[in-house]
Amino acid sequence: MNRALWLTLFFAACGPEQQQVERSVTPAVIDEPQVASATAAPLTGFPCDVREVLQANCASCHTGQTYSPHFFTREDLLQPQFTQSLAQRIQPTADSPMPPRAMERQPTAAERQVLEAWIAAGLPAGECGALSP
Ligand code: HEC
Repeated sequence: MNRALWLTLFFAACGPEQQQVERSVTPAVIDEPQVASATAAPLTGFPCDVREVLQANCASCHTGQTYSPHFFTREDLLQPQFTQSLAQRIQPTADSPMPPRAMERQPTAAERQVLEAWIAAGLPAGECGALSP
């Protein structure tokens, strides 16, 4: 409990400022659900916007029969095989960019930004599931 709250409670206990006590106690009650969610299972999926971009631009090859290497989950992409080259390969100016130049479907500027921000942040987990073939 913070110091201001202690002081408020202390003075409230000595005086008729019941109203103020109720107001200052409210934030502590609101905090409870956050404490509870901190103990919930940690996220392991893709952030949903990232999953959408990967599904639209990468899944056709990287989850399919024709090409390897495969990735379906965030855990797959955390393999050094991918982390070592991901940031570089998604640049359209790369020697051999991903998706390859020959692909008609190229990421939009906004989609690239989503991927770049996610990679720069260290591939943080999110709430959305594996890519589908
Ligand atoms: C046309 C099919 C195709 C698409 C679409 C595609 N890739 Fe690839 N990707 C490949 C193939 C084939 C390889 C393996 C050969 C190579 O490294 O160029 C590869 C390799 C990679 C690698 C390097 C893996 C390694 O072992 O070095 C990364 C990282 C990668 N892709 C990421 C992506 C991402 C991210 C997307 C979407 C933005 C994407 N790819 C879209 C076919 C594709």
